[in-house]
Amino acid sequence: MNIASESPVRPPLCDRLGIRHPIFGFSHSVDVCAAIARAGGFPVLGLARELPHEIPHILAEASERMAGLPYGIDLMLPSQVPDEAASIESVRAQLPAPHVAFVDGLRDRFQVKPPQRPSFFTSQVRTRALFDAQIEAVLDSDARGVATAIGLRADLIERAKARGKLTFSLVGSVRHARKALDMGVEVLVAQGYDAGGHTGTVGTLSLLPQVIAEAGEVPVLAAGGIATGAQVLGVLGMGAQGAWLGTLWMGAKENHTPPALLQRLIASGSEDTLITRAHSGKPCRVVRSDWIDAWNEPGAPAPLGMPLQQALTGDVFASMHEFDDARLIYEAAGQSVFGIERETTVGEQMDALVDGMRGAWERMRGWDAHRR
Ligand SMILES: Cc1cc2nc3c(=O)[nH]c(=O)nc-3n(C[C@H](O)[C@H](O)[C@H](O)COP(=O)(O)O)c2cc1C
Repeated sequence: MNIASESPVRPPLCDRLGIRHPIFGFSHSVDVCAAIARAGGFPVLGLARELPHEIPHILAEASERMAGLPYGIDLMLPSQVPDEAASIESVRAQLPAPHVAFVDGLRDRFQVKPPQRPSFFTSQVRTRALFDAQIEAVLDSDARGVATAIGLRADLIERAKARGKLTFSLVGSVRHARKALDMGVEVLVAQGYDAGGHTGTVGTLSLLPQVIAEAGEVPVLAAGGIATGAQVLGVLGMGAQGAWLGTLWMGAKENHTPPALLQRLIASGSEDTLITRAHSGKPCRVVRSDWIDAWNEPGAPAPLGMPLQQALTGDVFASMHEFDDARLIYEAAGQSVFGIERETTVGEQMDALVDGMRGAWERMRGWDAHRR
């Protein structure tokens, strides 16, 4: 890793956070986050898929591994979920019989093995009570930033700011941006349709200028479809203070991506990703697999809402990952999947991003010099 490398452009948010590069990396992996921090970016550790009792341990490990470097934590806080803690069994008991029969049919067709390891997807239901517990843990951590996606909670924003944490919100529309600004969020992440994970309907290139216009002095980051340094420089040119990437890191060794999924990501291009509600019940961009395709076959039922769809299919998702099922395995992934060409390391990816920024910068300066 080229520790000394400098970005050609360093927006003010870099100095505010004490990072060298305007590169923000979302990941569910502590190993990936620690490597992003070491390479001079700002890592954001996703906690939305962690078992509640493991969160304190994960946060303690994250704090230790970041070794004093700044990092953030991300929570997904959709508002339309049950208030009270609910057992997954009680939610399963409410599932419509035709959906249960459809998924049982797919389990037979694809010979899905029951998962053996405990996981969020087989045991948890997203409820307000679960989010409350996650929020307390995150507020108690030494994370410098707190990000939220899908929903917003005024109490979290207020309490995080009171503890000196910088608040980020992922927004997919100008309306969401306005809501976040009205709640006092300090950094907006304009996440376009191109992004991996839950997303709105406007592409990054169209969303970004509109969110920047709405945000005024509030810094905005660009997310969705970004995999190269030239793209990072491009969004800085548009006024973003950084790029927020999620998919790319799945190509890094530190992510411990299951081998069949890694091969799928390497083989996939932007057109192999699509938006589906079959993953969580909300529109989510994923890389296609036979499992995702089965939900788009004629006769397949419309996916249920959140949290029912996950109660219906969470064991299959857990199984395909546990057994690395080459036919079924999929993951949230953006159109940026084109950037995963081989297994690499986070350090190499960061170097390539910074070199790409510098290359694009020099190319543009060369055009200018040519004119004089
Ligand atoms: C595997 C995966 C899981 C994700 N999970 C979350 C999440 O839990 N919370 C969140 O705010 N964003 C999540 N995202 C979205 C990222 O924060 C980011 O906005 C997105 O990946 C950017 O687009 P890109 O995938 O094209 O880089 C996820 C993305 C991926 C690829």
